[in-house]
Amino acid sequence: MLLLAIETSCDETAAAVVADGREIRSSVVSSQVAIHAEYGGVVPEIASRKHLEMIAPVVTQALHDADVELSAIEGIAVTRGPGLAGALLVGLSVAKAMASARGIPFVGVHHIEGHILAAFLEQPVEFPFLGLVVSGGHTHLYWVEGIGRYQTLGRTIDDAAGEAFDKSAKIMGLEYPGGARIDALARHGNPAAVRLPRPMINDPSLNFSFSGLKTAMLQHVAKNPVTIPSQAASDLCASFQQAVCDVLAAKTEAALRRTGSRRLVVAGGVACNSGLRARMGRMASELGIELHIPSPALCGDNAAMLAVAGDFCLATGLQSSQDSDATATWEMDRVGDGGR
Ligand code: KG4
Ligand code: ZN
Repeated sequence: MLLLAIETSCDETAAAVVADGREIRSSVVSSQVAIHAEYGGVVPEIASRKHLEMIAPVVTQALHDADVELSAIEGIAVTRGPGLAGALLVGLSVAKAMASARGIPFVGVHHIEGHILAAFLEQPVEFPFLGLVVSGGHTHLYWVEGIGRYQTLGRTIDDAAGEAFDKSAKIMGLEYPGGARIDALARHGNPAAVRLPRPMINDPSLNFSFSGLKTAMLQHVAKNPVTIPSQAASDLCASFQQAVCDVLAAKTEAALRRTGSRRLVVAGGVACNSGLRARMGRMASELGIELHIPSPALCGDNAAMLAVAGDFCLATGLQSSQDSDATATWEMDRVGDGGR
């Protein structure tokens, strides 16, 4: 089945053409990052308006890059939630209109389900497996039994890992979104240079907390102002990144032991982080488990990742109706409840 996929949940307007939920024929991502950087974070109304402006050119580009006519598209996968309501509505409306005009089915996909299943675009993964999603809005551990069958094992009780990266970067005076900048500076830093907390690392739950780490960064920088670039800035970035990786690794290892899982998928924008990728790689070889982390281009927001669940749903006759609504909040545990 040849699918068109559309993603507009936050600040990336994305479209992709994917064959059989596996083969990426094209993937176009138009980022609004430079626009929102001026404001230090995503401004919802600006995001919606920019999606409205970019969606047609991005979809046209995806069809062009794949060298297919719209008439060859057999179905559409679109992010229905979670995300910014106004941003989601743009992609969902376009998907509905195109499906209606072409007389083809469309299906709503959960943004996080897309992130987790992105790994399948590179390699098939056997179910069940443990999924760690680390993005700007999520830090969640899921037990994944199949497409549409997700159980939340743990989650952040405050900030997401990506949010902690971005807020800490802002505290240091780095431009939004700062995750990748911290990663780059950390490469030349000493991770043992600054003592920072590892919130909830010894808590028996599989939940996370990152707001205390952000506060510790704020206090450290207030006492020790940093200039960029400098060795002190690199050391602070490396120490911060190590603290986040320590917590993520400890909780993931606990979840692997608790579930007895032999397979781990790490996904979401923060999975681009070089320190986290290396750390998870070491953990997987120590524990003798199979590790899947998508290539960086598939970790950040993109539309191709939606086609895996989209293809599965449409192939099994599951589709969304023209009255389906965008949902800013949508628990992964409810995805299989027939509410697509
Ligand atoms: O998955 P994503 O692209 O969008 C959401 O669904 O949120 O994740 C974006 C997050 C941002 O917080 C960004 O700073 C972070 O991923 N990020 C990174 C890196 N690249 C992106 N964080 C740490 N290291 C990176 N290399
Ligand atoms: Zn995302």
